[in-house]
Parts: sequence; C-alpha cells; structure tokens
Amino acid sequence: MTKSLFDSVTVGKLDLPNRLAMSPMTRSRAYDGLASDLMVEYYAQRATAGLIITEGIQPSVIGQGSINTPGLYIDEQVTSWQRVTDAVHERGGHIFAQLWHSGRVAHSSLYPDGRLPVAPSAVPSGGHMISHTGERLDHPVPQALTLEEIAETIADFVAAARNAIAAGFDGVELHAANGYLIHQFLSDNVNLRDDAYGERTRFALDVTHAVAEAIGPERTGIHLSPGNPYNGIEEGDPSALYTSLLGVLRPDLAYVHLLEIGNRPVTEHLRSVWPGTLVLNPHTGINPVAGMFASAEEAEAALPVADVVALGGLWLANPDLPDRIRNGGPYNEPDHETFYGGDHRGYTDYPTSAR
Ligand code: PHB
Repeated sequence: MTKSLFDSVTVGKLDLPNRLAMSPMTRSRAYDGLASDLMVEYYAQRATAGLIITEGIQPSVIGQGSINTPGLYIDEQVTSWQRVTDAVHERGGHIFAQLWHSGRVAHSSLYPDGRLPVAPSAVPSGGHMISHTGERLDHPVPQALTLEEIAETIADFVAAARNAIAAGFDGVELHAANGYLIHQFLSDNVNLRDDAYGERTRFALDVTHAVAEAIGPERTGIHLSPGNPYNGIEEGDPSALYTSLLGVLRPDLAYVHLLEIGNRPVTEHLRSVWPGTLVLNPHTGINPVAGMFASAEEAEAALPVADVVALGGLWLANPDLPDRIRNGGPYNEPDHETFYGGDHRGYTDYPTSAR
C-alpha cells in the first residue's frame, strides 16, 4: 500500500498520529540555559507533529558550542523542560530531546573555567562562534580527549538522557551529525586517534548503546548526516562508513534519523541495510543546514524510503503544518533574520492558517 504522511506509525513504543516529525533546530532563545516560557509556547504550538525533536541540548558544560542554547545537566534545567513536555503532551503530542555535544565547534568563552573545547584529536574546525556581543571568535585548536575523558563524556550523555526521561521526554536523539562531537569521531580528518576510539564508529556506538541501556533502546534515536562537510568534516566514503555503523547499531533503537545531503541513492542504500525505523530529512540539494529547507512535495516524495519524514523550515514557520499540507498550503515563509536569538518575533508569532 502507498504510504501517506497522514498514516499513523509506531516509533519505539509510541503510536504517532502521522509520519511528520519536526527536525531539531537551534533557536538560541535559552538565555540562561533553561527552557523559557517562550520555548514552552513554541513547542506546544507545534504539538500536531507526529514527533517533535527539540533543538540541540547540551549534556554537559563542555558540550555547549554556541550562545543561548539550553542544557539538561542540572536540576533546574530538568524542571524547566518538564513544562515543555507537559504542554506538548497535554496537546496530544510526542517529543524527543536532542542531546548535542558540540566538541571542537565551540569556544572557551562559553565555559566558566575558560578551558578549551574538546575533540577526538587536536584539529581545529576553521570556523568561528558568534559571541554575546556579536564578535566572531575563532574556534580554537581543541584539546584531544583522553580515554578517561571519553568515558566521562559517555557518562554525561547517559546522565542527560536520564534527565530527559525525568523531564518527561518520550526519548532522546543523539546528535551524531553536522560536524559536532560524535560526527568528529566518525570523520577521517578530526579523528586521528591511534587507540580504540580511532575506529571511527566506536564512539557513536558506545554512546548510543550506553544511552539505550540506561533509558531503553525504544527511547533512543541517533541523528546522522552521511557526507555532510558542515563544520569542516571530511569523510572518504560515507556510504561504507554508515553501512558499517548501521550494521552494528542495535536495530531495536527508536530510529535512525538521516539528514540527506543531495544523494538519494546513498539514502536508499542505507535504508536497505537498516532494519529498524528510518526518519529522513530529505534534501536534494547539498547544503541542508543553515537555512535550506525541504518542501512538502519533497516530504511526500521521500515516503517510499522513509518511515517518518522530518522537516525543519516548514515547521518553524507553520505551527499548524499538518493542516496546511492536507490543504495543499499555503505556507508561511521562514524568516532567516530571526532564526537565532531575539524574542517572540519569528518564533511564536507565525500565524496559523485562517481557514
Ligand atoms: C546551527 O546552529 O546552525 C546548527 C546547529 C546544529 C546543527 C546544524 C546547525 O546540527
């Protein structure tokens, strides 16, 4: 039978009312690391998504890589997220927390002790961070993690995942895409280690399985972006790399979420080797992050290969997206000027359809 975006679908132990997920999107409005009232409203407005995946949330102090992003490593943060999950659940929605460790894509000024950001090896990103005063601060040469620190980092992910469940989330998604810490371990150019973690898939595997053990595989998803050069990442053979990762990940995870980089044949191949649930953010172009978003037509066209389709910009600008897709539009356009930081403008004030 032909799949529809409006089929119900099972993800882990959740029965979702449709196949439309909201992609994780950094919005930089957590001014003190907490989920604010504005964030409660923003996520609640989008509760008709089959699954909301939150913006990236740092699992530890050193996991933070940009200003004004939220955390899940102290009690006050857990309490603040409880209000978000309550509001989404009250409206019948489902929500996973994305756990995001930035690794080398970060700056010492984010940390109270001014320490260096960390990475698999001491290789800088070549990029920069925007400071609170709008200054461009070059990402420094990071400190290579020791084996002991790798174990601590995995423990931080596990603790944050437990916190997410305590905060009422339905599960967590581990951010292993877009050039952040887990992706740095998967890369050819940032992972120059000669210990066990020099094996590119090892860290992704260890983090994912440790989290799955702690909160249940059915509550654990992983976000991958095969072939994405974002944040200075090089992968010699993405198809081979991700084939080997998918071959060792436990298939009873909630899902694998792929951000596609203009290569449907790679997606189709990875679909064929992954027996579990596949969430796909479809992209026929090559730069899907930083403001290029898939359309409703691309979402439909992705269904043969995906169990769930994750969309970013359309959800950002259209809180009532399922209704709009059912009606063939029209769609509000996302405003790039208000993506990061600011107030309710370009955040909670996108109108629902007049219909
Ligand atoms: C961003 O802040 O632009 C950003 C954050 C996380 C991503 C991609 C982009 O995975």
